[in-house]
Amino acid sequence: MNDKSKIASGLEGVVAGRTSICKIDSDQCELFYGGYSINDLALNSSFEEVAYLLLHGELPDKKSLEDFCSELANEREIPAELINIIKELPSGTDPMDVLKIAVGILHTSDPDGTSNTNDANMRKAIRLIAKIPTIITYDYRIANDMEPIKPDARLSSASNFLYMLNGEEPESYKSDVLDKSLILYAEHGLNASTFTARVVASTLSDLHSAVMAAIGALKGPLHGGANERVMEMLLEIGDVEKVEPWIKQALSEKKLIMGFGHRVYKKQDPRGIIIKEIVKELGERLGNNKWFEMSQKMEDIVTAEKGLHPNLDFYSSSAYYLLGIPISLYTPIFVVSRITGWIAHVTEQYNDNRLIRPRSEYVGHEKREYVPIEDR
Ligand code: ACO
Repeated sequence: MNDKSKIASGLEGVVAGRTSICKIDSDQCELFYGGYSINDLALNSSFEEVAYLLLHGELPDKKSLEDFCSELANEREIPAELINIIKELPSGTDPMDVLKIAVGILHTSDPDGTSNTNDANMRKAIRLIAKIPTIITYDYRIANDMEPIKPDARLSSASNFLYMLNGEEPESYKSDVLDKSLILYAEHGLNASTFTARVVASTLSDLHSAVMAAIGALKGPLHGGANERVMEMLLEIGDVEKVEPWIKQALSEKKLIMGFGHRVYKKQDPRGIIIKEIVKELGERLGNNKWFEMSQKMEDIVTAEKGLHPNLDFYSSSAYYLLGIPISLYTPIFVVSRITGWIAHVTEQYNDNRLIRPRSEYVGHEKREYVPIEDR
């Protein structure tokens, strides 16, 4: 907080509401969803179970989880009109823009329309969470002159995503890596996209509008867009030997190093620690340690020079690259997961709503006379 101006730049440190969805303990480098440690969830849970926890506030029993998984699996197909719209979009349309457009289109045909009741929003949630991966993979395949692959209701969310992308069922260790990254990405308090979603919900607008706005906020390179920039940076550097000169040059030019730093974690990002181990193991299993070695070297230098630590996006990028996922889909995959957190927050907002409407400190001209255009 700057004493002179009384504003909190970037709303840093401002507590803007109460939540029971997620707790971030930045001093201890710990993160909890509904009281469960992210370490326990990443080790033992599945994305579907975490999605249920976020939406309902409790872990499901076996039957509830089975029902939830089959509801999701049965809602994966997208309407023919939406497929036609995706086909008609200009070539090169950013996949995040496709998602925004598609969520808007889905709103027009959602049977629950603009109803904001909890029951309506839970039904909308299932439809949206289920359809986002289909939109992403259909768009990718259509844009690359390949036939879209219909979802397979037998597969988990992570396996089905890789199946729809590549046309073959992934080996289980690969879908496990994606599944764990979806768990890590699912929720993170009042981050920029979730806050955006809550602001929209606070006007009593509908869930789809909140999700569209959140996608727009996530797209930016300081937030979800960072994971794609990290991989582009690693590819540009190209070799472990070139890491040190590249980073030192970038830091001397005051450039941002993508995948480092965090508003909330000034020590380590607990999710970053988990995904780092996952990438290390994946690289060893695939006999390709290049990206891990480069990343480790980069981490050593940036931490020593700037005291900054890698955030979740840093090592996630190498994980996705090793899984053969196209770079343009890294941020959309963030949506596949974070939509669960957005919806949990939107629901929480509706249930205890007050319009979110802060003030700004005026620093413009004082009162002045209007001058007719011909006299200016
Ligand atoms: N590279 C170089 N310098 C950095 C970086 C970075 N990645 N991050 C912060 N800094 C510097 C700032 O320039 C600032 O330096 P200064 O004091 O000389 O001005 C200092 O560290 C403090 O940083 P803040 O600007 O206060 O950090 P803030 O909390 O505003 O920003 C953010 C956090 C946006 C994540 C920032 O660290 C950043 O831009 N990182 C790169 C983008 C990124 O990885 N985003 C993903 C976020 S995590 C996620 O969405 C899952």
